Amino acid sequence: MRMYDLIVKKRNGEALTKEEIYWFIEKYTAGEIPDYQVSALMMAIYFRGMDNRETLDLTMAMTYSGDVMDLSEINAVKVDKHSTGGVGDKTSLMLAPLVSSCGVCMAKMSGRGLGHTGGTIDKLEAIPGFNTQIETEVFKELLEKNGIALMGQTLRLAPADKKLYALRDVTGTVENMSLIASSIMSKKLAAGADIIVLDVKTGSGAFMKEYKDSLELATIMRWLGNNAGRKVAAVISDMNQPLGSAVGNALEVKEAIETLKGGGSEQLRELCITLGSLILTLAGKAANEDEAKKLLDEAIESGRAFEKFKDFVRAQGGDVRAVEDTSLLPLAPIIEPVASPVSGYVSLLKCDEVGMCSLVLGGGRAKKEDDIDLSVGLMIEKKISDRVEKGEPLAYIHAADKERLEEARERLLAAYGFSDVQPEKPVLIKEILN
Ligand code: URA
Repeated sequence: MRMYDLIVKKRNGEALTKEEIYWFIEKYTAGEIPDYQVSALMMAIYFRGMDNRETLDLTMAMTYSGDVMDLSEINAVKVDKHSTGGVGDKTSLMLAPLVSSCGVCMAKMSGRGLGHTGGTIDKLEAIPGFNTQIETEVFKELLEKNGIALMGQTLRLAPADKKLYALRDVTGTVENMSLIASSIMSKKLAAGADIIVLDVKTGSGAFMKEYKDSLELATIMRWLGNNAGRKVAAVISDMNQPLGSAVGNALEVKEAIETLKGGGSEQLRELCITLGSLILTLAGKAANEDEAKKLLDEAIESGRAFEKFKDFVRAQGGDVRAVEDTSLLPLAPIIEPVASPVSGYVSLLKCDEVGMCSLVLGGGRAKKEDDIDLSVGLMIEKKISDRVEKGEPLAYIHAADKERLEEARERLLAAYGFSDVQPEKPVLIKEILN
């Protein structure tokens, strides 16, 4: 086979065969095909697209391009969850212990934040001592022992995707549905869970800004997972404003803990209960979603879910004292309100811009190699549809120094819009595919 022929075939709008797809993935992973040829193929796919069969073949070829986690020795239903990324999205921190406390095994594979979106690994590292860089064997032992464990994606998991995604990132070929869906699902399939729950975000702070694109992505990812023999459910959730109030690593841990204990953010609770009820139903732990919701509510109210979070933190080397007393989490030296310039109703809160405020404060990464400050971020007090009086705080900024504080303040004020009439509150759960 010759890479040149595959490029020309796709350029001319023909479908690639399974053998051709497996061949180029294998050879590219082994370093036997140069980046320039794969870039050309990605661009041809970008313009010509792939049909479902090609997308599935690409997904499976990338899944098997490296190690595939075998969790079969763990005698429980194993679940993983994926979010397409958002601002203030601390869902996994709460969902993982919540469903684990209801008897499913949460085998969570997570990543770090990039650009305006955060990542679960960074957030958990705000808990002193928490170790996300565990080996596969330790991951499995913890799953067996506690029914919950979290690890960062290893280099050996879906290495073809790692190379391809990095290449697409610099060649203008990220935004293709087949390429995105296969990229995400190959990593999830290689991570070995029986059930995969997808939280596909939609709106200004999401990777997919348009609802129809989010729906298409959720639909194709679920189809890919089902065809790979996994149970998959997907939720499309709003990301036109941050989820909850906290944006920033330690601040989000604190909000997740408060919500897990029954207080905190109503929105976060709603999303976790929705995702959790899909998980418990698919795992056979509840007959239907109503029954599942009761189990999840009870796990929160009884304190069981929070106890499970503490077990999880302890097992991965984290200091449980910082979970019991969140004032021990990293705290920024400067905390200042951002006063509203007008009286009225909040009509807009550009979510990606809020994420950029956190990045400007040092809480996010512009490039993969950047270091981050786990203590900084924002607590959003006023969200879309809320009434605010002039001079009242819209948010509190947690900053390391005055210069960054002022830059973030300016950006945050520009992210807000106001009106005299009260707009509707955005609906959080837009669609459930189960
Ligand atoms: N996230 C991924 O993991 N892959 C993509 O292609 C896009 C977003």
